[in-house]
Amino acid sequence: MKVKKICAEDFRNIERAEVSFSDGINLLFGANAQGKTNLLEAICYFSLGKSFRGAKDAEFIAFDKKTAKLSLDFEDKVRERNLTIDFSKDQARKIEQNGMKISRMSEIIGLFRAVIFCPEHLNIIKEGPSMRRFYLDVAISQLRPLYLRSLQRYNHILQQRNKLIKNAEKDRKSFDATIEFWSAQLAAEAANITKQRLRYIEAAERELKICFDEMTGGRETPSLEYDFSFKINGEDAADPKRAQEIFFNQLMSSHDREIYAGATLWGIHKDDLIIRLDGKNARNFASQGQQRSLALGLKLSEAAISASNTGESPVLLLDDVFSELDAERRSYLCERMKRGQVIMTACSDVDLQNEHVNVIEVKNGTYSS
Ligand SMILES: Nc1ncnc2c1ncn2[C@@H]1O[C@H](COP(=O)(O)OP(=O)(O)OP(=O)(O)O)[C@@H](O)[C@H]1O
Ligand SMILES: [Mg+2]
Repeated sequence: MKVKKICAEDFRNIERAEVSFSDGINLLFGANAQGKTNLLEAICYFSLGKSFRGAKDAEFIAFDKKTAKLSLDFEDKVRERNLTIDFSKDQARKIEQNGMKISRMSEIIGLFRAVIFCPEHLNIIKEGPSMRRFYLDVAISQLRPLYLRSLQRYNHILQQRNKLIKNAEKDRKSFDATIEFWSAQLAAEAANITKQRLRYIEAAERELKICFDEMTGGRETPSLEYDFSFKINGEDAADPKRAQEIFFNQLMSSHDREIYAGATLWGIHKDDLIIRLDGKNARNFASQGQQRSLALGLKLSEAAISASNTGESPVLLLDDVFSELDAERRSYLCERMKRGQVIMTACSDVDLQNEHVNVIEVKNGTYSS
């Protein structure tokens, strides 16, 4: 997978830019606040369908403007494509693929595959379960667009079920009449999502182990385990029919507790991914350096799984990560960067170990090679 060119107009501090990339390593180089991350955010938008920084679409539009535009030319093994997105302060975004209108972003998720890694990804290890669920959901959605649809359906059903629970005291009749329906729907989607997550975690653990073996010379062994909010064992969870039945029974068994809590208490929105190093939970016990290695390892695993599932390496987007890594991890990352195209940012000199680098100088929203 390769980015050929990105064009941006009135996107954050970029008034108008057209930036071309070479096949190997591309370095966006410049002082602070010049627009390095902004350009990565623009490229990454086409893979995630949203900002990797968690920004809302309206925040992209340059401060004094009403619209913004991004256009990406990229190629995979088979063909070249163009994706264009128009943002407007008062209208929904408009998406086109090769000049043809696309009605939903989810239709194009998975076409352009990129993996982003930035210092904040340390939060996958350090923060609460939602960061880890987000890591899983993004990684799996890139590989299986149907997963994203399933997640969207799950969230919709969850909202309906929660509404019903919240209103149960006022309207017990509606609750009794429809809770079985919503519970069955929720259990079905949850079973499907659980299966996909378990499959992904199995592959990610394999890749993470390889990565750590190479990065630390086998000194440390990571492992991953899915933590269910439902009471279920791994074997049953891997069988969607069985899982659906178990989930449904649990959702139908504790209505009073759920009404008291005012929300659905079990489901894939409550699950967690436990990341361990040498058997101990990394969130509580790993050192800062080990946590950094795990975050890097998880992201490189994401890229490796994408490469083995699709037959080609995704574009690796690295925002400001070199300055944060020690020599051992830096040299490991340099080695891994040879697998595909890399677009990275830095504001001070980085030693890329004599690799050929396309340096793009970034100054006040302008880009020159
Ligand atoms: N909607 C917007 N309109 C105009 N400017 C914006 C908008 N959003 C952000 N900016 C500006 O973009 C500038 C560059 O941001 P960016 O995050 O790309 O910097 P950077 O080059 O990555 O810097 P650093 O090295 O500090 O990470 C910031 O000064 C910010 O104020
Ligand atoms: Mg930045």
